[in-house]
Amino acid sequence: MGEEEAKRYVVVTGANKGIGYGICKKLALNGIVVVLTARNEKRGLDAVESLKEFDLSDLLVFHQLDVTVLQVLLLWYNSSKLDSEDLTSWCSERNSKWTESS
Ligand SMILES: NC(=O)c1ccc[n+]([C@@H]2O[C@H](COP(=O)([O-])OP(=O)(O)OC[C@H]3O[C@@H](n4cnc5c(N)ncnc54)[C@H](OP(=O)(O)O)[C@@H]3O)[C@@H](O)[C@H]2O)c1
Repeated sequence: MGEEEAKRYVVVTGANKGIGYGICKKLALNGIVVVLTARNEKRGLDAVESLKEFDLSDLLVFHQLDVTVLQVLLLWYNSSKLDSEDLTSWCSERNSKWTESS
């Protein structure tokens, strides 16, 4: 590796407001490239827009992400049924169990 410091990248979830938003701002102000994610595209893009006043455009990228998708994928991955069970049928089975218990 050369002498130049490696660029750092961070993905922040739920970042259109609150703690996530504040973390994005702080990290970008420290020169870290931030992928600001939010489940709602408009709220996420508005958050990126509002950070432009701090001259952070080059360090901020938006990506739509609902963390429940990650939770479902992690549950499936940890279910140890990767070889034998299709993700779609696993989700629909879990979905009916969750719906029954709520
Ligand atoms: N504030 C505190 O002092 C404090 C202290 C200790 C712990 N916490 C915990 O830290 C977390 C954040 O607190 P906060 O004050 O920043 O809350 P907040 O202002 O309500 O922000 C929550 C963020 O999470 C997003 N979000 C919710 N569900 C999501 C999903 N399924 N996928 C992606 N994003 C989702 C929200 O998006 P939308 O705008 O779309 O709803 C929003 O951007 C909470 O779990 C809170 O309990 C907060």
